[in-house]
Amino acid sequence: MTSPFDLAAEAATFLRNRFDGSHDIVAVLGSGWADAIDMLGSGDRCPIGDVPGFKKPSALGHGGEAVSITVGTSRVLVLTGRTHLYEGYGVAPVAHGVRTAAALGCGVAVITNGAGVLREDWKIAEPVMISDHINLTGHSPLTGENPPAPFAGRFVDLTDAYSKRLRAIANRAVPMNEGVYLGLHGPHYETPAEIRAARSWGADLVGMSTVLDVIAARHVGLEVLGLSLPTNLAAGISPTPLSGEEVIAVGKRAAARAGAVLRDVLVAIDAAN
Ligand code: HPA
Repeated sequence: MTSPFDLAAEAATFLRNRFDGSHDIVAVLGSGWADAIDMLGSGDRCPIGDVPGFKKPSALGHGGEAVSITVGTSRVLVLTGRTHLYEGYGVAPVAHGVRTAAALGCGVAVITNGAGVLREDWKIAEPVMISDHINLTGHSPLTGENPPAPFAGRFVDLTDAYSKRLRAIANRAVPMNEGVYLGLHGPHYETPAEIRAARSWGADLVGMSTVLDVIAARHVGLEVLGLSLPTNLAAGISPTPLSGEEVIAVGKRAAARAGAVLRDVLVAIDAAN
């Protein structure tokens, strides 16, 4: 069986040929962010399902393309959708995007998601930064065979998982609230009791993605910035029942704002690098 790292190298070779060379930054667009691509300028596009090892994203509100755009002097690989653990393919396809990006030469990953929010003082649909995470998916992308060189070793230090340097750069470009993201397996939403527990653990945001991507990204040496789009108050705090449709509707309403934030953050990272 092909190792996930060989498959990522194969995907990177495909993208290097398709998009004519290596890239500097990868941006993964989660729920609510797919339409933000329109604010980033035009670029060469390729269906993600054509790239070795990528699944066609099936999650609500996700796009299905790899797009190569240029921001300043940086080449940015934008993945307009991602694979979630709850889709049932296991952890390797979840980690494939960031592993491919690292093999394509990227040094920075901007990882976005739509999330439930536990903070009633935060505005729905106004992007926030992730300062740290709690991984309650019960999984790691680093189980199985020990990764081969140059990524041998899997006891990854996550002390600075969400780069202080990138957070400072992003915050100077767009002042944003910051909070802790709790990642769960899903695809069901949480119970109010789970949200009360999450609050007592220090979570500000809750979602079904990001944490495994970030662990895999740190393992291959990417510097990570995490951005969340609060799409709803979390279960038990929200006065209305939660629904996937509501999350998509908020994402659509927020597309221009999310896109502007992402563009300004990418411009600032390019200028600083
Ligand atoms: N819970 C989990 N994932 C989510 C939510 C939520 O409330 N909103 C958007 N993604």
